[in-house]
Amino acid sequence: MPIVTTNCEYDAARALLRWYAEMGVVETVDPSPTDFYSWRALPPPSEPTYSQPKQVRNAPSQPEPVEASVDEAIAAAEASAAGCANFEALEAAVRAFDGCPLKAGARNTVFTDGVPGSDLLVIGEAPGRDEDRIGKPFVGRAGQLLDRMLAAIGRTRSENVLISNIVYWRPPANRTPTAFEIALCRPFVDRLIEITAPKAVLIAGGASLQALLGVTGIMRARGVWREIETANGQRAPALPIFHPAFLLRQPGAKRLAWADLQSLANRLKEH
Ligand code: URA
Repeated sequence: MPIVTTNCEYDAARALLRWYAEMGVVETVDPSPTDFYSWRALPPPSEPTYSQPKQVRNAPSQPEPVEASVDEAIAAAEASAAGCANFEALEAAVRAFDGCPLKAGARNTVFTDGVPGSDLLVIGEAPGRDEDRIGKPFVGRAGQLLDRMLAAIGRTRSENVLISNIVYWRPPANRTPTAFEIALCRPFVDRLIEITAPKAVLIAGGASLQALLGVTGIMRARGVWREIETANGQRAPALPIFHPAFLLRQPGAKRLAWADLQSLANRLKEH
């Protein structure tokens, strides 16, 4: 990138960067080609750094310190979550957990909102700008639609639903959380399910579907009941549904979401 020398160039560069950020650009690339094959031959970094967890890592031979720090970070999350006997302890553990790199860029930890003893648990993707500012999940436009959807089946945050996400800190520029960030939060998500033992988990959106059930393709998976199994082997019925942000963009899909909500309401009534 050319070196910026004058105020005018500085303002133009700043405006351009802001525009990129607003357009959702989250990666920068070099103007000249990079030989990615030569990366593997580089010496290991002197400081341990985070990388992708084992199952999503694509470079076969990562240096030892990187692997160790990934496994250690996940093991720390597992140990912290396993030590929580109740909801309050779990909330405190999530707030105290410093192992997820997202936390450094977030204003708030966004854990849950609603009633912890509810028989319905909604799990979305990640906090966005409004959630990060306020510290509660689903408070922006998508959250307001979620509230209306839940209200249609007699559920409100003040009475009978608990809402959370697969990660507890806002990813930069609202990008999808990485597999590593998801893996770090997963022990807490599992423990939340174990502690609150909901009769149903409503999985909002494709990213949450993939993270919780390992299933891709929300278009085909929505409306089909499955089971989430936690690390301890506890099971909970789970229903994937379109993410409310998707429904804001595609109002025509609300018809299908309505059918899914009916299925949820019937299930909760049955049990
Ligand atoms: N979208 C989500 O998936 N979760 C939130 O908390 C907000 C928006």
